Amino acid sequence: MKKIIKNGTIVTATDTYKGDICIEDGVITQIGENLMDIDGEVIDAKGCLLFPGGIDPHTHLDMPFGGTMTKDNFETGTIAAAFGGTTTVIDFCLTTKGNTLKSAVDTWHKKADSKAVIDYGFHLQIVESNDAVLNELPKMIEEEGITSLKVFMAYKNQFQADDETLFQTLVAGKELGALVMVHAENGDVIDYLVKKALKEGNTDPIYHALTRPAEVEGEATGRAAILTDLADSQLYVVHVSCEVAAKKIAEARGKGIDIWGETCPQYLVLDQTFLEKPNFEGAKYVWSPPLREKWNQEALWNALRTGQLQTIGSDQCSFDFKGQKELGRGDFSKIPNGGPIIEDRVSILFSEGVKKGRISLNQFVDIVSTRAAKLFGLYPKKGTIAIGTDADIVIFDPEAERVISAETHHMAVDYNPFEGMEITGEPVSVLSRGEFVIRDKQFVGKAGSGQFIKRAKYGEKQVAKKNKPLTM
Ligand code: URP
Ligand code: ZN
Ligand code: ZN
Ligand code: ZN
Repeated sequence: MKKIIKNGTIVTATDTYKGDICIEDGVITQIGENLMDIDGEVIDAKGCLLFPGGIDPHTHLDMPFGGTMTKDNFETGTIAAAFGGTTTVIDFCLTTKGNTLKSAVDTWHKKADSKAVIDYGFHLQIVESNDAVLNELPKMIEEEGITSLKVFMAYKNQFQADDETLFQTLVAGKELGALVMVHAENGDVIDYLVKKALKEGNTDPIYHALTRPAEVEGEATGRAAILTDLADSQLYVVHVSCEVAAKKIAEARGKGIDIWGETCPQYLVLDQTFLEKPNFEGAKYVWSPPLREKWNQEALWNALRTGQLQTIGSDQCSFDFKGQKELGRGDFSKIPNGGPIIEDRVSILFSEGVKKGRISLNQFVDIVSTRAAKLFGLYPKKGTIAIGTDADIVIFDPEAERVISAETHHMAVDYNPFEGMEITGEPVSVLSRGEFVIRDKQFVGKAGSGQFIKRAKYGEKQVAKKNKPLTM
């Protein structure tokens, strides 16, 4: 049956206008003022904004890490994402040395396929670039539709790859049409600083931040940018946390290097002092890169506003405080890194960004949805509201007020890092390919209804030329 969403204000990355949206067979078939004579279900969106479903380009669902597993899997994680106005996630498929890429992708499909309630794609980790990996890559990109590759420059003896692997991945990415993503921190220097701190008896959560100073993120970001230039490739820096790293990206962009940067809600609103909370509560705020001194927040907002950073990922990687974060009592290096953010990513950017006048409404849509769709080969199927696109739509009440709390969130963890934060704006209903997943703030979706999306290659739809700004 057709659906028609009436009386809302449509917001895209470029336009804001009053209009009705007609949906048929999962796609938008008409947009216009006062659409009449359509027999179908009418949904009244009076007073609400209608924007394209959020695209979260950075999640870790059902992921093993630090000797434990993330609490949220593809079912709980995507339900929480949908509550928060996200309709597509791109999750990191981890690989292991000596095993085929295909076996890793199969493992990730098993985790996701019968569980996801919204659409999803995968990025593929490259941990070592040997012949077997390089030979298998074209198939992953062309047949599996996994058009982004991830290299960790940190987590020594676990995920960390060396510069040879990073460089070969950049070369392959260029050749095959894949966007290369990096976790940019100097893992060797961190390893040294962590060992030194522990030896000196400094075991509290705050030392997680003190052993990963902003300079190690800046150094790795700058190094990755230079290697990208040398390979004439393309790079996306995940979870940029500080001014030093944001500046490295801005500098490289100024030189015409094809580099993009993502930040996360936690770096925009939380700071390093949270790691000093008593009773080991600081462990709740352990991310890599770590939360920074507060003044960095304004630098990150400025970078988003001026387009030097372009996207926001949740870096969803949730662990309970009890039993999981607590693994690091007495040794901060054993605290599982990460937090539950997937649900509040969109709302925090709206409340702290749009409502506080830091970014415009259209920039907000670009940052939470459109830009990621373009960079990761989903656009224009996803990431905008236009005739012919998937009807992934958020019906959003811009005046609703709520307080973030673990009591009411839908993630599977026992705390929320934004506990008590008052925010304005909330998704009322969320549609994925024309079907309600959230209706009047209730979950009405179904596990397994999310589809795996084979994504287009990088640059397939827009040409990125050096010394030429990308117009998208
Ligand atoms: O602390 C973090 N960021 N945990 C998730 C893994 C990663 O580095 O993205
Ligand atoms: Zn699948
Ligand atoms: Zn990372
Ligand atoms: Zn991550």
